Amino acid sequence: MDTHHEEWILILDFGSQYTQLIARRIRELNVYCEIHPYNTSPETFSGRIPKGIVLSGGPKSVYDQDAPVLNLEYLGYPVPVLGVCYGLQSLAHAISPDSVSKAEKREFGRAKLIIDDNSDLLFGVRNESIVWMSHGDHINHLPEPYRIIAHTSNAPVAAVKHQEKPVYGVQFHPEVVHTEEGHRILENFVSRISGCTGSWTTASFIETEIELIRNKVGDDKVICGLSGGVDSTVVATLLHRAIGEKLLCIFVDNGLLRKNEYKDVLETYQKHLKLPVRGIDASEKFLKRLSGVSDPEKKRVIIGNTFIDVFDEVVSDQSEFKYLAQGTLYPDVIESVSFKGPSATIKSHHNVGGLPEKMNLQLIEPVRELFKDEVRNVGRELGIPESFISRHPFPGPGMGIRVLGEITREKLNLLKEADAIFIDALKRDGFYDSVWQALAVLLPVKSVGVMGDERTYEYTIALRAVTSVDGMTADWAHLPFSFLADVSNRIINEVRGVNRVVYDISSKPPSTIEWE
Ligand code: XMP
Repeated sequence: MDTHHEEWILILDFGSQYTQLIARRIRELNVYCEIHPYNTSPETFSGRIPKGIVLSGGPKSVYDQDAPVLNLEYLGYPVPVLGVCYGLQSLAHAISPDSVSKAEKREFGRAKLIIDDNSDLLFGVRNESIVWMSHGDHINHLPEPYRIIAHTSNAPVAAVKHQEKPVYGVQFHPEVVHTEEGHRILENFVSRISGCTGSWTTASFIETEIELIRNKVGDDKVICGLSGGVDSTVVATLLHRAIGEKLLCIFVDNGLLRKNEYKDVLETYQKHLKLPVRGIDASEKFLKRLSGVSDPEKKRVIIGNTFIDVFDEVVSDQSEFKYLAQGTLYPDVIESVSFKGPSATIKSHHNVGGLPEKMNLQLIEPVRELFKDEVRNVGRELGIPESFISRHPFPGPGMGIRVLGEITREKLNLLKEADAIFIDALKRDGFYDSVWQALAVLLPVKSVGVMGDERTYEYTIALRAVTSVDGMTADWAHLPFSFLADVSNRIINEVRGVNRVVYDISSKPPSTIEWE
């Protein structure tokens, strides 16, 4: 991580599903924070002292064999500490190993927080507000230096404070929206207790980042692959602001983009954003290499490798470029350093992997500290049109993984037409923004239908629309039947070769958003 943040909060991750939420809530207070595995050595920060430390929750019991243990060196830091759920238990257990026990009643869900004592942590917090509990263990004997500042009907120890030091703990989760006063509690910790001023804003991020890019790049040149998505567009725009014409962007038509996408997006890049971009139509090459291939993972690898080859060919004088700019986001960074290890590869996500080594480029990743919604805000501040910012995510392999099985031009065209009808209708009827991602899939089966007096034997289109926060979990979007009926009619009437439309009503998990 960069070292330019004067004011930051360290979040030690004990494995909770909510750790990223803690980070997001703190950043909403305009305070920069970083998540690091609980067992990160303090030396890693080479003298960079945070303004405060939050110990996250976690799925383990402090009594489990492989329970994560708090490194006591962190308590030696002259800064405030807040333990959340497991974080609190690890604090108590570190001082007094028998202070934590299995609760008679495990407590999940809502509870009323009853405040027992004044404290900075609960300053201004309404008595009997709802908090969200999710724990099996609880504190039974509070170790000596701590006192109880709040309880609930099931948990005698719901919030605590160290008698002499600014060390606090809460048994509930202040980071989830169900905790009514969670925002205030975190604000109390970050501002009131840790003394953060909240100066980390989108505008200050852009200003600092431009300075950092200029210093890093100097007189060298940067190349950037544009995908048509928000992340790469924000990265390119930021770099353009910083280094102007020392940037070259490449936008490749792989033949797997949405209908008219290549033309429309290229136009936005060139005319509206004025980016130095070179458009390359490589669709023939991609489709040729994909011919006869039906395995999804093989398709992904071919698409990824072909992208690298095209990029490689275009940049004839490779020595000209020293850096490759990439839209890596913070969740990717956390995933790769997580103590749980990178999650199992369910689908490989090949975008520009392999390119830096092949072309001997160094990476430049200006948004690697940001969450997706923060990148969107940076994009807005940089003047990227809202229609571009609020686009649905689109996978690198594009329609290549939405024509199920073998890809042909004919099938791709059917899919592009059907997809365009669906997306246009979502926009026309005002559903586009409430849906996280929507897509059409061409199934590799034909079925019987009847049109006029004729029997037909044609393809089926599956429509998928999901609601989600981050794509990790998703629910199918409950679109009105009348809307779906209209889209189905239009597809069957207008797309020759399709005689059946179905709507996917599976959630993720167990299904995934894409079908391949
Ligand atoms: P799944 O299908 O795994 O998708 O539920 C989650 C999100 O990831 C996108 N996705 C990809 N993005 N390369 C990408 O850049 C890929 O190979 C890929 N596969 C899935 C998907 O569209 C959804 O937004």
